[in-house]
Amino acid sequence: MKHQISFGWLLLLSVTFFTTVSSAPGRLSPVHPKIKPASVSEDFETFFYTQTLDHFNYKPESYRTFQQRYIINSKHWGGAEENAPIFAYFGEEGPLDEDLPIIGFLNDNAPRLTLRINISKQHRFYGKSVPFGTLDEVINDENTRGYFSSAQAIADYAEVLVYLKEKLSAQNSPVIVIGGSYGGMLASWFRLKYPHIAIGALASSAPILYFDNITPQDGYYSVVTNDFREASESCYETIRNSWSVIDELASRPNGISFLSQRFKTCSPLGTSSELKDYLDTMYAVAAQYNHPPTYPVTVVCGGIDGAPEGTDILGRIFAGVVAYGGERSCYEMKKSNSASQTNLGWSWQTCSELVIPIGRGSNDTMFPSAPFSLNDFANSCMSKYGVPPRPHWVTTYYGGHDIKLVLQRFASNIIFSNGLRDPYSSGGVLEKISDSVLPIYTVNGSHCLDILTSSQSDPQWLVMQRQVEIEIIRGWFAKYYADLHTLQI
Ligand SMILES: *[C@@H]1O[C@H](CO)[C@@H](O)[C@H](O)[C@H]1NC(C)=O
Ligand SMILES: *[C@@H]1O[C@H](CO)[C@@H](O)[C@H](O)[C@H]1NC(C)=O
Ligand SMILES: *[C@@H]1O[C@H](CO)[C@@H](O)[C@H](O)[C@H]1NC(C)=O
Repeated sequence: MKHQISFGWLLLLSVTFFTTVSSAPGRLSPVHPKIKPASVSEDFETFFYTQTLDHFNYKPESYRTFQQRYIINSKHWGGAEENAPIFAYFGEEGPLDEDLPIIGFLNDNAPRLTLRINISKQHRFYGKSVPFGTLDEVINDENTRGYFSSAQAIADYAEVLVYLKEKLSAQNSPVIVIGGSYGGMLASWFRLKYPHIAIGALASSAPILYFDNITPQDGYYSVVTNDFREASESCYETIRNSWSVIDELASRPNGISFLSQRFKTCSPLGTSSELKDYLDTMYAVAAQYNHPPTYPVTVVCGGIDGAPEGTDILGRIFAGVVAYGGERSCYEMKKSNSASQTNLGWSWQTCSELVIPIGRGSNDTMFPSAPFSLNDFANSCMSKYGVPPRPHWVTTYYGGHDIKLVLQRFASNIIFSNGLRDPYSSGGVLEKISDSVLPIYTVNGSHCLDILTSSQSDPQWLVMQRQVEIEIIRGWFAKYYADLHTLQI
């Protein structure tokens, strides 16, 4: 299980997921898309909380409830008398089962943190927390999908935490919330909105600044480009030059069928965009999950650069595909129409409030130009859901503009961890905001690497990153217990 995340990328090519430039490229998840959900260990106990459908309204339907899943591991809990800390992992856009086996941060650090209990909560409407039928039904029903929002989700988490502290008589136990990617955004927003419930947050790879044009549109693909360029200049050049070669071929008679042969596609390509989207996704995912010890970017470039002398550009690109995906009889390049929960749910979330404008200009990355157009995006959302997105809501509700100015005196106890090779780090918090709102990043780290299960082969910089995070959290506890002591005497 420890090695799952390191080698998971090998399985990638069998699956497609939504990656057009107009939506988020990699899914915004700590978990590589291809990791197979493992079963949750027996130390975990699953419960369901009868959750309020609508925390912010008093309409009759607001009182409808649904069963929200949460999972507890309290095997070694020191108990309420000790005010032992509680760690709460926030689920994000997918079933919780996919995260639990590989999110190792809590597990690995339990001894050092005198960690006694940790709770993982399933984001509303994902996994086994879907109200009223299937997620498909929820998303397709204009009367229910409106309840599928980040504000409702963190209100759910607040309600469960308050309920659990009460149930465990652990009112004075400090709570730390943890999440990765979208879950990391939720953790940091939770700390800002519910300081009375969580004393701190670890927000791993949380691009909370990738909204409302705070981060340049091309941030994501600029990092992907840099990753490849730093791995190999010639590999970068080859990729950069390949798009026009593909276009040129595609414009010839029988060009598309020729491309299908060159790339051994399992079924004939319909258009050259299918091939280009496929490659785009491959490069983006390789960069996002460029985890040690295998470093997928290096693997792709190994294929591209390692092709025999005289291999043409298409041959080199194909060698990259093979290096990444392994030798196969054919490569499936058609986007699957799979209605996974993540695709369904995330599509709605990005079309409502989580508008992440990822695009690229004409010569700023190794990819062809594909600017993000809010207009086009809004139109596509209108046609899917009949309502336009609210691109300014996230910054209105949670903030983001002038974050240092705003948060330096107001906020405390948030770690924004990042790896700079992760394309989403471009929208992350990378500057120190105050003595306790801190960026902890590594130059060579990738998406959510710090919260994944540790391994013997972890590089020293990653071990250090985790150690620093633990030390900071210990400091928060020390202060908290000192305050508790003072106030109780
Ligand atoms: C929660 O903490 C316990 C140790 O107290 C550990 O065994 C368990 O794996 C942790 N759960 C997670 C999700 O890390
Ligand atoms: C595009 O970028 C490349 C490399 O960064 C540079 O050499 C080239 O001059 C640029 N072309 C244009 C038209 O700006
Ligand atoms: C990051 O990786 C590169 C090689 O890929 C290496 O040269 C560099 O020293 C590493 N940086 C750190 C801070 O570990």
